[in-house]
Amino acid sequence: MNILLIGNGGREHALAWKIRQSPLTQSLLIAPGNAGTAQVGENIPVKSDDLAGIARICRERKVDMVVVGPEVPLVIGLRDLLEAEPGLGHLRIVGPGRSGARLEGSKDFSKQFMLRHGIHTAKARTFTESQLDAGMQYLEGCRLPIVLKADGLAAGKGVIICSEHDEAKRALREMLADHLFGDASARVLVEEFLPGIEVSVFVITDGHDYVLLPEAKDYKRVGESDEGPNTGGMGAVSPVPFANDAFMEKVRTRIIEPTIAGLQRENIPYRGFIFFGLMNVGGEPYVIEYNCRLGDPETEAIIPRIESDLVELLVACGEGKLKDQRIRITPQTAVTVMMVSGGYPGDYLKGKVIAGSLQLNPTLLFQAGTKATGTDVVTDGGRVLAATGMGNGIMEARDRAYAALSGISFEQAYFRRDIGVDLLQTGKS
Ligand code: AMP
Ligand code: GLY
Repeated sequence: MNILLIGNGGREHALAWKIRQSPLTQSLLIAPGNAGTAQVGENIPVKSDDLAGIARICRERKVDMVVVGPEVPLVIGLRDLLEAEPGLGHLRIVGPGRSGARLEGSKDFSKQFMLRHGIHTAKARTFTESQLDAGMQYLEGCRLPIVLKADGLAAGKGVIICSEHDEAKRALREMLADHLFGDASARVLVEEFLPGIEVSVFVITDGHDYVLLPEAKDYKRVGESDEGPNTGGMGAVSPVPFANDAFMEKVRTRIIEPTIAGLQRENIPYRGFIFFGLMNVGGEPYVIEYNCRLGDPETEAIIPRIESDLVELLVACGEGKLKDQRIRITPQTAVTVMMVSGGYPGDYLKGKVIAGSLQLNPTLLFQAGTKATGTDVVTDGGRVLAATGMGNGIMEARDRAYAALSGISFEQAYFRRDIGVDLLQTGKS
């Protein structure tokens, strides 16, 4: 079958690598892709938010299935548009329509959804610009730290955690009155802070049944020991030792199943991935956020652990036939380390030549912000490469990921050296 994958990050390189291995895959197109995806498929110069361009490619290249990596095309209605296009009725699409993508696209919607369906989450109140004074008053009665969240998509920057009331007031004013995140902060959630350890849990669902994918821990802060600003993610580990059977049973029965049942009850069709950003608060799972896609860099750690044919699973999802699907997952550990451009998540330079072998063997070296120019591969984003080591336990997998990165260099390259270290003490290593 002809498959079109949307996106251009490390997540998409990992997905493309896995999709390519399936005997069901005839051709694989990636729009727009990066230098890594070009090694396993054909890059198409159409941006992931160019919905009309994507529809055109579907027609011209006789695409059978569209797999959507990032959230933006889903939130702005890629599925809705493709479903309404004449001649594309046969398309299988992995990714929800606009109504389902609100789980990620509106934090106010997702919060109310969780409350309606009794799903554990942090308490929150939503304020608009005209309610700024009420918001200020409300803040005074809140316990510290206070979490402020822009309602809409803000490229991962819309959450501010404030350790003082004055700071929270300033931030609320900036978000609501000064439109710090544009339209995304036209509504702001003032949320209770949940103490605990985070874990990313993923399912693929057709809106009725679901298959649980491997879970992962993401390392969000740019600096070692979780210091410095938040990033899209600096590394990932899968499996997560504290996500044991007892915890995952709670996740299934109290979070995943009520979420899918809630979507059904509200007549929201959903075929695609759901990413549950969870906080483990003393053994109890709470939802921090929903995403309507897989995570990055979590995908680079979880996809290599899936032994079964991913395309079979994607087709079953696209056709609404996940009921009898099973998945085989290796017990091996995957550790992913991101190599980024110096300065990220702030300003950084692009176009730096990457030296070293960018082979996917023996360690999986997925490419993110890269571009081929002539015979060189150059940096083209903040997060540049994701090295995934596999091994018997975190230590061995870590060693392999770091060994792969030691052979790669570019000007001002940076990576965290402590990915997975915090999990070594907790047992399985
Ligand atoms: P998000 O953009 O929703 O992923 O949030 C960014 C990060 O902020 C999360 O990964 C958490 O580390 C943190 N965070 C968000 N909400 C809360 C909360 N209610 N309590 C504690 N930490 C939070
Ligand atoms: N790594 C977190 C995310 O993809 O949102």
